[in-house]
Amino acid sequence: MSDLYATIVVPCRHEEGNVGPLLDRIKTAMNGHPYEVLFVDDSDNDATVQAIRAADPNALVFHRMGEQRWGGLAGAVIDGLRMAHSDRVVVMDADLQHPPEVVPALLSTLDGGAELVMASRYTDGGDPGGLSGPFRRLVSGASTWLAKATFPIRLRGVTDPMTGFFGLRRSAVDAGTLHSRGFKILLEILARYPRLRRAEVPLRFDKRLSGDSKGDARQGLEYLKQLPRLRVATTPLRYFATARFRDFAIGGAVVAAAGVVLLEALVRTGMDPLAAFGVQLAVTLALNFSYNYLVTWRDRVRAGLARRISWFLATRGATQFLSWLLFAGLSAAVGLHHQVANGVCLVMAAAVNYYVTDKVVFTA
Ligand code: GDD
Ligand code: MN
Repeated sequence: MSDLYATIVVPCRHEEGNVGPLLDRIKTAMNGHPYEVLFVDDSDNDATVQAIRAADPNALVFHRMGEQRWGGLAGAVIDGLRMAHSDRVVVMDADLQHPPEVVPALLSTLDGGAELVMASRYTDGGDPGGLSGPFRRLVSGASTWLAKATFPIRLRGVTDPMTGFFGLRRSAVDAGTLHSRGFKILLEILARYPRLRRAEVPLRFDKRLSGDSKGDARQGLEYLKQLPRLRVATTPLRYFATARFRDFAIGGAVVAAAGVVLLEALVRTGMDPLAAFGVQLAVTLALNFSYNYLVTWRDRVRAGLARRISWFLATRGATQFLSWLLFAGLSAAVGLHHQVANGVCLVMAAAVNYYVTDKVVFTA
């Protein structure tokens, strides 16, 4: 198989009326290039497998059963990416809404250096014509808009993030990182791999040859559930979207408030403000350390207390100093109001303190 030029992955479910004509047209389109077609079939009977065998005994079929049948269409595509033998993969539907004649253009775009090439209905020369009726068009437009609103930066320049017809360099993504269910596998690839070199070719979306679409309201609901999850899972700030950071932030805020009260009380009892500040600093550091030790990172190994305390004090000292520099820069150089500058410093310090406490102080 070393001279294999491409793997064409075809997710299918009850497509016995389509796979024969599909294989014929792929063969003509591939014009002698060595390729394999890999069907990932979720049909509840053998009719599709038999139709594939009758049309081309060399076609590969993974007929998923029971437990194997995870994720529907998206899961089938991910399994297909795992099982493909070539590094050049094209994913397409079985129902001939995706004309096989576009496959060579996808492959040559990969050869031109793209890692992901999408066949788009909404780019120049493309045509969503085969979307049956105004309702499907509306759903398609609305889901595309929603995807672009959710990922405005990652989908910049992508005209058809919902297309199920695309070419991919398999080595550019790790199929093990993909978990999509339902119909939106390309969107997950775009969201998780924003740095892929990508390209588009126009797609004239045809009518389904035979049988019925499996897209329905359930798929729509699945999409609405997936979108926010994918957003959270791929945000650069996901490190802070954890219960641990929530514990850290709540505890830190309470201790800081206690510090303000303590400072005020000490000054009112007549203590020198500088001395009162020192006491407040020592007390809040001790409270923060204890709280983080007993609550925020309670699951980490309870050893090396002295080492943990030293690192805690050292890293807090460093962030205090950096905060001071940042404050000076923001207030003096940039001219921000001192409370605004203080707010920025607090947010930065919280993030930095959390990170270093997690990575340096309470190491496992
Ligand atoms: N293995 C597997 N498992 N294949 C499935 C499943 C499933 O649960 N559900 C659908 N398929 C296969 C179909 O057999 C077909 O080959 C392909 O996935 C697309 O399914 P259709 O039922 O034809 O869906 P569609 O035409 O409504 O949706 C297509 O166009 C949309 C854009 O308008 C798909 O390409 C979508 O991904 C795309 O968003
Ligand atoms: Mn279809």
